[in-house]
Amino acid sequence: MKQQGLENFLNKRIWVIGASSGIGEACATALLKLGGKVALSSRRAERLNTLAQLGGKEQTLVLPLDVTRQGDLESAYQSILDSWGGLDLLLFVSGMYVPLRADNFDFDIAQKTIDANLLGPMRAVAAVLPEMLKNHAGHIAIVGSVAGYSGLPKALAYGPSKAGIINFCETLYYDLLPQGISVHMISPGFVATEATAKNDFEMPALITADEAAQEILKGIQAGKFDIHFPKRFSGFLKFLRILPYPLYFWIVRRFVQL
Ligand SMILES: NC(=O)c1ccc[n+]([C@@H]2O[C@H](COP(=O)([O-])OP(=O)(O)OC[C@H]3O[C@@H](n4cnc5c(N)ncnc54)[C@H](OP(=O)(O)O)[C@@H]3O)[C@@H](O)[C@H]2O)c1
Repeated sequence: MKQQGLENFLNKRIWVIGASSGIGEACATALLKLGGKVALSSRRAERLNTLAQLGGKEQTLVLPLDVTRQGDLESAYQSILDSWGGLDLLLFVSGMYVPLRADNFDFDIAQKTIDANLLGPMRAVAAVLPEMLKNHAGHIAIVGSVAGYSGLPKALAYGPSKAGIINFCETLYYDLLPQGISVHMISPGFVATEATAKNDFEMPALITADEAAQEILKGIQAGKFDIHFPKRFSGFLKFLRILPYPLYFWIVRRFVQL
């Protein structure tokens, strides 16, 4: 059994969470150009309003929210149902990253990171699932990271939040494939955005947010579960994680100078 792709995005009802900058903004922009109906969410309403001007009046909804608040997600989803009668694709892109090592481990940051990056997508999925299950249709796409594949420096909270996304998506896929609902797990490598602009090291295989958006939309159209890019980097990290631990840690210490 293979999961369904989306033939095209024309008139599809899409909810982009994390649409105000970076990868999410690039996805929303591309989807609007392709004729999708796009609900735009994140905290910064003024940015969402500017983005909405790229689409027609009937084509966009601006639904500001904070993914750490369940009530925000529930009422935004209700607005989508009220306006469009349903949802074809949930595209959860939102995320936060604060570098953390063991010598500056801060539980408060760890809690905020897990809340936004792991519980946030779970809240959104909990909101959309009942309707999708009823209709035996729909797509759930969640942006994780290659940093979730295995432990990497400076990712003491971010890494576990993204590792959780991988497991969450795998389990969702297992449960939802027989129900006719497609799950897309998205694992980007380095993408040039506001989030990575603060990095003080040379990022290998860096791509633009527009390139990332193209990979994501192409993968969803093809019905792929595992959407990872750029392959020259994500493929290498996939290989690293199957190595025995002594070799894995030796390579990371030798080559990742963070
Ligand atoms: N850039 C990379 O190299 C890279 C690599 C791998 C994975 N990723 C993942 O890709 C996703 C997008 O990252 P990006 O690089 O595009 O970062 P970005 O430019 O900083 O965008 C992050 C987005 O998330 C939203 N957001 C953050 N916290 C939120 C909250 N509590 N409630 C609602 N929205 C929230 C932000 O909007 P507001 O501030 O308006 O709320 C913004 O739209 C993240 O999940 C990130 O972990 C990025």
